Amino acid sequence: MSKKLMGQVAWITGGASGMGRATAQLFAGEGASVAIVDINEALGNEVAEEINASGGEAIFHRCNVSDETDVQSAIAATVDRFGGLQIIFNCAAKGIAKRLENMTESEWDELMAVNVKSIFFSLKHGIQHLEKNQHSYVVNIGSISSFVAQVDTPAYTTTKGAVLLLSQSIALDYAHLGLRCNCLCPGLTDTPMMVKYYDRIADGDKFLAKRIQRVPLNRLVAPEEVARSALFFSCEDSAGITGTSLTIDGGYLAAAEWDCNNVTQL
Ligand SMILES: NC(=O)c1ccc[n+]([C@@H]2O[C@H](COP(=O)([O-])OP(=O)(O)OC[C@H]3O[C@@H](n4cnc5c(N)ncnc54)[C@H](O)[C@@H]3O)[C@@H](O)[C@H]2O)c1
Repeated sequence: MSKKLMGQVAWITGGASGMGRATAQLFAGEGASVAIVDINEALGNEVAEEINASGGEAIFHRCNVSDETDVQSAIAATVDRFGGLQIIFNCAAKGIAKRLENMTESEWDELMAVNVKSIFFSLKHGIQHLEKNQHSYVVNIGSISSFVAQVDTPAYTTTKGAVLLLSQSIALDYAHLGLRCNCLCPGLTDTPMMVKYYDRIADGDKFLAKRIQRVPLNRLVAPEEVARSALFFSCEDSAGITGTSLTIDGGYLAAAEWDCNNVTQL
């Protein structure tokens, strides 16, 4: 079978870990040249080395996605190295579990900057390269929190709502250039971010097990499953689709209420 991303260059933020890492590996396997962009140098270099060792092509750039100069230079370096840019995958994000009265202004601002302003920077500095292609792709990561709130995460939830609307705006503003922009909205996904979130609470394992019972498929989403949806939105398999979102949540948002241990009683 022919590879889906031969000759394409993908810029992947958060590529050192979790969904970004799985996507970098999948895209490289599909023939893309991949720029892994992250603040985690050790893991970012590790992913690039793994890809290069298995016959793919990858580079790592240390880049804080909330810093405009960092984003500008990481995009420029990617284009210098690979000769163009077709795909931007904005996957990096931070989470903070704090209610508003306990949150500082700088924590709020940082979350908005890492999770939302980063997408603005990627377009501001990437569009001049994307517009040179007949087809180009921007895929942003929202969340089930783009649609419904969850306790203790008001700032994170706000950022993920914004990512969904920003994705729609990008889709409209650049459609005439052949650019399509879509938003992936994962549910509970088995990544270091999710593990850290539950590790912070006493009895985190039990709490997580209870959350999984709320998922009709009765399991976590795998980062590789998100990566396959990112691939769909980053090639012409999804031709005709722009400004939309895809939930990858094991059925979570389909159910007003759910308990896998008690389905017949609902
Ligand atoms: N795991 C889940 O359950 C879940 C659910 C819904 C949405 N999401 C979203 O999925 C995306 C990927 O998260 P993940 O679960 O794979 O997490 P992860 O922690 O495994 O990966 C996130 C990566 O982003 C990087 N990063 C953080 N801040 C950065 C910055 N300022 N600049 C550059 N890189 C930075 C981290 O170093 C890390 O490598 C995020 O947007 C997250 O909000 C996760």
